[in-house]
Parts: sequence; C-alpha cells; structure tokens
Amino acid sequence: MLHLDLDRSDRFVSDTLRQGLAARTQEAHEALMAGRGAGADWLGWRRILADPNDALLEELAALAADIRSRADVLLCVGIGGSYLGAEAVIRALSPYFPGATPVQESSLFGGGSPHRVEVLFAGHHLSGAYLEQLLAYLEGKSVVVNVISKSGTTLEPGVSFRVIREWMQRQFEDADARIIATTDAHRGALRKLADERGWQSFVIPDDVGGRFSVMTPVGLLPIAVAGFDIRRFFYGAVAMMKDIDGQQDHPALRYAAQRYALHEAAYVTEVLSVFEPRLDALGAWWAQLYGESEGKEGKGLFPARCVFSTDLHSLGQYLQEGKRNICETFLILDDDRGRLGVPAAASDTDGKGADGLAFVAGKSFTELTRAALEGTMDAHTAGGVPVSAIRIPRLDEDTLGGLVYFFEHVVALGGYMLGINPFDQPGVEAYKKAMYERLGRTI
Ligand code: PA5
Repeated sequence: MLHLDLDRSDRFVSDTLRQGLAARTQEAHEALMAGRGAGADWLGWRRILADPNDALLEELAALAADIRSRADVLLCVGIGGSYLGAEAVIRALSPYFPGATPVQESSLFGGGSPHRVEVLFAGHHLSGAYLEQLLAYLEGKSVVVNVISKSGTTLEPGVSFRVIREWMQRQFEDADARIIATTDAHRGALRKLADERGWQSFVIPDDVGGRFSVMTPVGLLPIAVAGFDIRRFFYGAVAMMKDIDGQQDHPALRYAAQRYALHEAAYVTEVLSVFEPRLDALGAWWAQLYGESEGKEGKGLFPARCVFSTDLHSLGQYLQEGKRNICETFLILDDDRGRLGVPAAASDTDGKGADGLAFVAGKSFTELTRAALEGTMDAHTAGGVPVSAIRIPRLDEDTLGGLVYFFEHVVALGGYMLGINPFDQPGVEAYKKAMYERLGRTI
C-alpha cells in the first residue's frame, strides 16, 4: 500500500555514510519494539494499536452519529497535537467544495449521509479577530464543542475555550450537554472542570504524547463527526504497524536510514512536497511530529512543507538554486482523481486565437500533474537536492491510517538514531515561560 523510492537520493549518500547504517537502523527499530529506548514511557501510540479498544471506537462512532444528527458545527478547541491530526485527516478526505461532491467521491462521506456537519477549529492561536468572527459565524447554528487538551492547562485553547464557553452558555440552555472534553484521566484544570460540570469526556492515555495522539479520541472523534470511518482509519494504522514490525527491510526502516544519513551529510532541512492541495494540513501535522520529535540537542532536520505546483512559483526557485542543504521527500498520490481533461480548442487546428496550449489538448489533469511531478523531481535532483519519494495509492481512511503510523514509526527511529528522546519537547516551555512572565504568571 506504500511504496518508497530512494533512487534519486541514494547518490547523495556516500559509501562511508552507508557503513553501519543498516545495523544502526535495526538497533533503533528493535529498541522501539522492545520498549527499551529513551522515552519508553511514551509508547502508548503503539500500545493502543497492539491491543485495539473496539468498544471505544464504537462509542466514538455512535457519539459522532448523534452529533451529526443534531449539530451544524463541531467546534474543536485545541492546539498542536490536540488538533493537527484531526485537521490533517479531515482536510485530506474532504472534497474541496462539499456542495459539489463528484459522484465518485460520495462514499467518502460515511455512507453519503445528507446532513453534513462542519468541523471547525479554535484555540490553535491567539487571534482575537478570528475568535470574534468565528462566534459571529456560529450565531444561529447548532454547535457542539469538543475541547481537547492533554495537560488541560495550555493557554491558547484555555482562553479561547473560556470565551467559547461563555458564548455557549448564552446561546444554549443545554450548553453543558453540548460540551465534550478530551483530556487527561485525572490531572489538569480541564479534567476538573469536566467533572464538575458533568461534561461527557474522553481520556488521552498517559503514555500517548500530543503529536502521537491522532489514533485516540483526540483525533478520532472529530474525524468521525466529519463523516469518516474511524475504524478503517485506526485499523489502517494497525496493519501498517504489523507490517513494519514484521519486516527487516520495510520502507519505514529504509526511509529512516536515508534521513539519518542525509542528516549526517549535513543536510539541514527536509521538505515534504505534495502535489495535492488537500494534503497541506497533513504536511502541518507531519511538520509538528518531526519538528518536536527530532529538533533538540542541536540535532534534527528542520521539517518544511510545500504544496506544488503552487509553491513551484514561489519557493521553487530556492529549492532549485538556493543554499544546498535541503533534502526533499515527495508524497505522491497515485489516484489523484484528476480525470478532468484539457478541452481541444478550434484554435488547435486553425491557429486563430491560439493560446499556445495545443500540446496539452486531450490530456487529463492527472497527466499534467504527473509530468510536473516527474519534471520537478528530476530538476531538483539535478540541482543538488536529494529527492526521496513515498507513493500511496489513494486518499482514503485505510491509507491515511497507515501513513500516519508510517511517519510516526520513522520519526521514532530517527530520534533513536540521533541519540535523543523523540517523545519529549522540553524546548516548547521556553516561550511559555517568557510569555507567562510578561502576563504576570510564572510556571
Ligand atoms: O505534542 C505535544 O505534546 C504538543 O504539541 C501538545 O499537543 C500541545 O502543546 C498542546 O498541548 P495540550 O494538549 O496539553 O493542550
């Protein structure tokens, strides 16, 4: 279901760097599987897949169906790992214009339910203008809120939720029945509030870090409310984990080895490039996962993302000819649903009013994308960028579940190979401390 192509990046890895690489990768892989690496208390993202809680999946799917039957909007309040995964999956699976869903995509809506709930996000920044406009937009709509915070103390979702809660209480007599909290089982202000107010709540397991939490209620509830099959998504990840754990030469291990070798060869930035705009949010999820997991102790590849061909007209210049410390991974979608063809025009034959595009007449947008993709990979390689490629067959729940696990496993190996703990994020505290000092509080 996932294919890795390292042909173009192999030439940038010297024989010296290759020495011992396979053994080092295998060592990291075994440490992860045996739970004896750094941060071994944080391997819940594997544990929950090894022992699936089907009752929880069913409970979440049933609640989602209930919300879909009574709400216009599910408002998710969270930041970082408490929203990026859900947004990534929902954006990747949703059509660009929901009202104009092409027939072939209708199965993407959980059986084609006619009632479509909008899933919106708040608490993922401090824009007061956004919050004000959001509340104006929600006026008159039936709203359910899912407030998500593992610590239950994060400022951005905390203050946003305070505003949203007040608004909910003004708008709805049954406000408390419209608030669902996803947080720690025992700790934090959000857990206390949820218990006091009797809100329905879900638990983020102790041993699952925020950026690894999309397979918990953090991601699963919003994804289910958006109309997608969370069982398929979850079991897509289970299948990928079994696949990786059971194979010595799995693409996950080869990709982890390549990234490590490039890091050792002094590459600084890894760009994840996609040609499908609805994968943009997946890129944001990936960037958090990789940035927070690897970027510590002066190590790690800086994760950046590009959406092509849009960014070929902005960042493409830098990728082609800028500082040569960038490596690139293309995430390629085999079936991009680009069946639409470029129409033939009368000017193609008579030359009158010619737009110069006769050479693409009759070609599908998939063919155009393919040419742009292959052309870009060749050009970047020739320009000195090590290019790797991950190909997935299509965008659906199974594939995305598998891809999520693939990236998680790779970054865990990456951390171990770099000799760091991939599961903590001590650096995130520095800005919080400085911000809180200015706001009159110390942490
Ligand atoms: O990966 C992480 O742990 C972080 O990005 C958190 O998800 C983020 O800071 C939000 O934290 P919380 O869920 O505690 O509000």
